[in-house]
Amino acid sequence: MPDLTPYESPEIRQALVTMRRDLHQHPELGFSERRTSAVVRARLERAGLEVRGLAETGLCADVRGDRVGPTVLVRAEMDALPIHEISDVAYRSRHHGVMHACGHDAHTTIATVVAERLAKCRDELRGTIRFAFQPAEEIAGGAVKMIEEGAIENPAVDAAIALHVLPELAAGTVAVASGPVWAAVDELRWTVRGKSGHAAYPHQHVDTIVVAAQIVTALQTVVSRSSSPFTPAVLSIGSIHGGTTWNVIPEYVEMHGTLRTFDPQVRERLMERMRAISTGVAMSMEATCEVEDRYSAPPVVNDGELALWMRDTLVPLHGEDQVAVSAPSAGGDDFAFFAERSRGCVFHLGVRNVERGITNGLHNSGFDLDEGALPVGAASLDAILRTLLARI
Ligand code: NI
Repeated sequence: MPDLTPYESPEIRQALVTMRRDLHQHPELGFSERRTSAVVRARLERAGLEVRGLAETGLCADVRGDRVGPTVLVRAEMDALPIHEISDVAYRSRHHGVMHACGHDAHTTIATVVAERLAKCRDELRGTIRFAFQPAEEIAGGAVKMIEEGAIENPAVDAAIALHVLPELAAGTVAVASGPVWAAVDELRWTVRGKSGHAAYPHQHVDTIVVAAQIVTALQTVVSRSSSPFTPAVLSIGSIHGGTTWNVIPEYVEMHGTLRTFDPQVRERLMERMRAISTGVAMSMEATCEVEDRYSAPPVVNDGELALWMRDTLVPLHGEDQVAVSAPSAGGDDFAFFAERSRGCVFHLGVRNVERGITNGLHNSGFDLDEGALPVGAASLDAILRTLLARI
C-alpha cells in the first residue's frame, strides 16, 4: 500500500480502528442514533469544532479555512440495519438484531477522523468543509430532514460528496466514475380488492388470489417489453399477503415491491405501464387494484467534473492500478437528495480481503470489512476535499 501519511501513522490507524469497532459494537437504527451522535459530537467538539444538532440525531460541523472559498459538504450516515450479526469477531454487535451491515460505522469514523485532522489545518484551506452526519439513511428519511433543517445553507453548499464501502472491491483500492451510481427508488404497494366468500363457490365471488397472481405475472413484462435494453431498470415484488384460511376467498391481497430506475423518463414510462397493467388486469377480472407509490430517493448521478477531479486526486495518491471505475448499482441511497440540490459525487472504498475471508456483501448478516481500508478511505477523503476546495 502507498504511503498515506498522516493517516498511516500508528496513532491515526489505531484511532480509526478503535472508533469503528466501538460504533460497530453499538449499532443504532434510523433516528435513534443517540449514542453514535454523542460519540461523534464529543470528538468534534474536542477538536474545536462548533457542532449543530439537526434532524433528531443528525449533526453538522463546519471546518472553515482561513481563506474564503467554496463550501463542500461531506455526508456520512450513522444508522445500522435490523439484521442479526452472525460473525464471531470480538467487536460484533452487542445490540441483538441490529447490525452495521452497510459500513456506515466506517463512513462515520472516517468522516470524524478527517474532520479532526482538517480542523488543525485551517490555514491550508480555502473555503468551508461541512461534515454532515445524517441519521436514517436506510429508511430514507434522514437526508431530507437534514436538508429541511438547514444542512445545505449558511453558507450554501456548492458540492456534496460521500464515500461508500464496496465489498466487491479489494481493500487498498478505491473507485469513482461519472454518471449513474445508485438508482431511483420507488417503494410500491398494491391492494387488490375482489369479493370474498366460500372457496367452494368461486363463481359467486371475485378471487383476489388469482387476480394478484395474474398481476404478478403480467408485471414481468413492464421492464422486459417497455424499456430499452440500454436503459437499466428493475421491478421486483418482495411480499404478497392475502387470506386467512384454506377455504375462504380473501377480500383483498396486498403486495409490496420496488421499482429501480436511473432515468426520470424511463421511470415515468415504467410507472405508467406498471399502473396500467395492474389496474387493467384487475378490471378485466372484475376486481380493482390500487397502487401506492413512495418515491424514496432520486438516482445518484455523479457530476462529471467532480468525478474527474476525484480521480485526478486518487491516482497520484494510490497509483493508477488501485483506482477502479465504479459500476452503477440498482441499490439506492438518500444521498441523492444532497446531490440533487447542488452537484454531487460518490466514491467507493474497497474493503474486500479474500485471504481473511472478508467477502460478504452489504446488508449480509456476515458482513465485515478489512480495517486496513480505513486509512485509505480517510486519506482519500482528506485529499479529495482539498482538491475540491481548490478547484471549485
Ligand atoms: Ni449504505
